[in-house]
Amino acid sequence: KTVAVLFGGQSSEHEVSCVSATTIISNMNHDLYNVIIIGITKEGKWVKVSSVEDIKSGEWVKSKVNAIISPDATQKSVLFIEGNKVTPEKVDVVFPALHGMYGEDGTVQGLLELAKIPYVGCGVLSSAVSMDKLYTKTVVDTLGIRQAKYVPVYKKDLAQIERVVEKVENTLKYPVFIKPSNAGSSRGISKAKNKEELIKGLYLAVEHDRKILVEEGIVGRELECAVLGGNEPRASGVGEIIAAADFYDYDAKYNNNDSKTIIGPDLPGNATEVIREAAVRIFKAVDGYGLSRVDFFVESETGEVVFNEINTLPGFTSISMYPMLWEAKGIGKPQLVEKLIQLALA
Ligand code: DAL
Ligand code: MG
Repeated sequence: KTVAVLFGGQSSEHEVSCVSATTIISNMNHDLYNVIIIGITKEGKWVKVSSVEDIKSGEWVKSKVNAIISPDATQKSVLFIEGNKVTPEKVDVVFPALHGMYGEDGTVQGLLELAKIPYVGCGVLSSAVSMDKLYTKTVVDTLGIRQAKYVPVYKKDLAQIERVVEKVENTLKYPVFIKPSNAGSSRGISKAKNKEELIKGLYLAVEHDRKILVEEGIVGRELECAVLGGNEPRASGVGEIIAAADFYDYDAKYNNNDSKTIIGPDLPGNATEVIREAAVRIFKAVDGYGLSRVDFFVESETGEVVFNEINTLPGFTSISMYPMLWEAKGIGKPQLVEKLIQLALA
C-alpha cells in the first residue's frame, strides 16, 4: 500500500510539523508501505519531497516537482507535475502530519473526503470543532466537565476596548490568558496580570484570529492524556509538563530545554482516573477518531481537574507527550504509527 505523508503547511506550527513528519516517516514500516512525502510550503504550495533528509535540511522547499491531490473522487492519486510531465501515483491512505490551521482544522480532511482517500485521525467535524477553542468550550460545557471561566471577544469589539476590559474585569480575576480561538502551539497567546497587559494581549491575539477567548488563569499543574482508537477509544496514562517559562508557550515548548515532562506523576486523589475518563468523554463528544491529546490542569487549591484543550493532531517530535504516553503503555512509535494507519483504513 502507498501512504502519503503531508507536512509543513501554512499555519504558525509549520516548523513543528516538519519535525513531527520526520518522526512519523522514520517510524513507518518501509517494507510494508511505499511512502510518498508531500511538503506544503508556508505559502501553501504542495511539492514532492524525496527524503526525510530533505525535510531535516530544509532543502525540500526548493523541490521543482509540484504535487496535486485533486478532489476528483475517481482518481485516488497524487499527481506529480514537473515541467509538462505529469506522473500520477495511487494513494491508499494519507497521514496528515500537520498542525494548526489548514491541516488540523478539517480543511485538509475535507479535501480528502472529496477525494475519497482514507486518512489518519479525526474527520472534518471533530477537527474543526477541536481547533476552535470557543466552540470546544461550548461542547465541553454540555458534559459538565470543569473548564476555566471565559469571556469571548470578537475583533470588532476591539473598537471599543474599554467595554471589553470592563466585561473581562467584571467576569474574571487576573491573571487571565488571552488566546486566539483558532491557533495552535500557543502562538498568539499571552498572560495578563493587569489592564495594560490585557489590552496588549488582545491586540496580539487578534493578529491570529477574529475570535478571541479571554480565560481566567488556573493555578495548577499541567497534565496531558493521549487518546487512541476508533469506535472504542482508549486513554493512555497521564503526563505532566513542568514548564520552564511562566507558562508553556511556544518558546518553552520547542526552544527551551529546561521544560520537562513526567509520565505518570503523583496526583491528588483520583485525578489520574478523572483525567483519563474525561479525555475519552471529550474525544467522543467532539466525534473524535484515531487520535487526540487532551490537556488539563489540576488546580492547586482544590485538587480539581479542569479541562484545557484538545489537539486532534498532537505533536510527534522527540519531546512530544503523545508518543511518549503510549511508549509508557508498551506501544512504541513504530507500532503507534502502524495502529494509526490501520485505524484510517478500517
Ligand atoms: N499543537 C502541537 C503540535 C501539540 O499540541 O502538540
Ligand atoms: Mg494545538
